[in-house]
Amino acid sequence: MTRKMPKGRGTTKCTIQGYEIICYNKLSSTNEKAKEIAKKCNREKIIVLAEMQTQGKGRMNRKWVSPEGGIWLSLILRPRIRPNENFKLTFIMSSAIAETINSMYKLNAKIKWPNDILVNNKKLCGILTEINTKGDTTFFIVIGVGINANIDLEDFPNALQQSLTSLKQILGFRVKRRLLIEGILNNFEHRYKRLKEGKWSELLQEWKNLAVFLGKHVEVISANESLAGVALDVDDTGALVIKLDDGAVRRIIEGDVGTGKQP
Ligand code: BTN
Repeated sequence: MTRKMPKGRGTTKCTIQGYEIICYNKLSSTNEKAKEIAKKCNREKIIVLAEMQTQGKGRMNRKWVSPEGGIWLSLILRPRIRPNENFKLTFIMSSAIAETINSMYKLNAKIKWPNDILVNNKKLCGILTEINTKGDTTFFIVIGVGINANIDLEDFPNALQQSLTSLKQILGFRVKRRLLIEGILNNFEHRYKRLKEGKWSELLQEWKNLAVFLGKHVEVISANESLAGVALDVDDTGALVIKLDDGAVRRIIEGDVGTGKQP
């Protein structure tokens, strides 16, 4: 990657923290391109980055609006873990992003389950992880990261402007995206190493220390139901444990807590 983001239709490549970064000016979705690349080679630590996405994907089949100025990237890894453990990589990526943003820009970014990064209660970043598995084997994982970096709120549809924020809007200046990516990868690498050393409980605790919703009364919207109660914990499997208003305790595997999402 050059100091500036690439212009024109071609691709440029560079290496940061041992990751090969392939930069595109425009892609439909960096996750889609990363999956295509991962299926054709056996390598890992490849990052696909685009200056803009025309069909950016969010969680739960939502669209992710990705204008110029953001950081839209997807990272290919081949961790030796069972498919049901892949969420751990998403968790350590969200901690790495929140911590890097906090230390670089002196902000108070927090994580909202499962992996939204919020600043001032508005969504700054989302993560979409996709995995390719067979039986008990993970072939590869693609961690898609979308950070609203140098974007003006007017560049988002009206309907999203209340719930989203960007670094430019918060800080009042354009951030150096390359430096931010370097910081995040550095932080992620440390955590990934600790994960491989078996330090998951420590990493989960660090994630919880950055979590904004624990102990609070929340609304959880999943694919087919809407629940309300107190968020008690996030367990070892990444599920949200909630005490419903009627007293029952439920584990929720997929959904959104409260508001602040791209539709
Ligand atoms: C969410 O919060 O719903 C997850 C959003 C993830 C967006 C990123 S942008 C880079 C990568 N490519 C995609 O199409 N989506 C992810």
